[in-house]
Amino acid sequence: MKNVRTVSMVILLSLAVAACGRSGEDDDDRGDVEGAVIGISMPTKSSERWIADGANVKKELESKGYKTKLVFGEDDPDQQVSQIENLITQDVEALVVAAIDNKSLNNVTRQAADANIPIIAYDRLILGTKNVDYYASFDNERVGELQGKYIVKALGLDGDSKPGPFNIELFAGSNDDNNTRYFFKGAMKILQPYMDEKRLVVKSGQVALNQITTLRWDGATAQKRMEDILTSSYKAGRVDAVLSPYDGISIGIISALKSDAYGSKGKPWPVITGQDAELASVKSIMSGEQTQTVYKDLRKLAKVAANMVDATLKGEKPQINDRKSYDNRVKVVPAFLLQPVSVDRSNYEKVLIGGGWFTEDDLK
Ligand code: GAL
Repeated sequence: MKNVRTVSMVILLSLAVAACGRSGEDDDDRGDVEGAVIGISMPTKSSERWIADGANVKKELESKGYKTKLVFGEDDPDQQVSQIENLITQDVEALVVAAIDNKSLNNVTRQAADANIPIIAYDRLILGTKNVDYYASFDNERVGELQGKYIVKALGLDGDSKPGPFNIELFAGSNDDNNTRYFFKGAMKILQPYMDEKRLVVKSGQVALNQITTLRWDGATAQKRMEDILTSSYKAGRVDAVLSPYDGISIGIISALKSDAYGSKGKPWPVITGQDAELASVKSIMSGEQTQTVYKDLRKLAKVAANMVDATLKGEKPQINDRKSYDNRVKVVPAFLLQPVSVDRSNYEKVLIGGGWFTEDDLK
């Protein structure tokens, strides 16, 4: 009899402990999650932004009393999967994941769910699984709109004098990143009407998303595509604008243009957009090569993600401001979306230095 009672006590206790682990509804006590280990899986160190993201998320979680394990996937989807598998076997209590390939994570997200580990999709949504709890990102369609609007304004297309036609070439991000189609959709919403009126002309004829993507956001890939376009479609005429979704891609495009004497007399730089306000690109904007970038305050994004982890582990509801935009094909993932800001030569000091993102010295 005594043995039976002891066994039941043990079962009850372990059930209670398990309940506190994830849903923790009866548990207001912070102590239970204090010191829990959170796995952070970032896509690559090849871009400055993801290094900052990793460091920021780590810092935010540690300031809430968590321990962290941070890994970078070197832009290799298989490596990211095995890194996450490792984190799961190391008993992390939650995962923050910025996917390399949005569809490669289905098995590993199932393994996490089986182990009762919540997953926060960080900046890039994970597709095709119910096992993603929340999404922390920016208004990605708005990013594209800001790029499209910038081009329209810089070329004066929105004015009364109806200048043009202008030549534009279009670049998009990696086809395995869910953000790519949001950026493109936002930009095309603005640019398509001018293309329909033939005031914007894509001489290469490459306008469909599957013709203009850049695998893994690779600058060298974009450079090669821009070189090919210049050779095949610009024997006559010049490029007036390039829609680029990301600073690393813009750098590749600028190299191709430079080899074709853009930026020298008679061949002014086209309007070139970007995203992320990476240091090299802000310097390029200051020197008049790249024209614009879209700044996203990654410090805020890290805070949002850390709050999502914290609330989820405590059985509370994290702050959400979007419940409709991000359908991952299995469910609409509740999201918190931050606002991006367009930056060019006229406001980089105010936004980037004033906002404490860069110091004056960084930009020297
Ligand atoms: C996207 C992200 C962009 C940019 C790009 C390349 O997912 O939203 O800000 O960083 O990846 O890294």
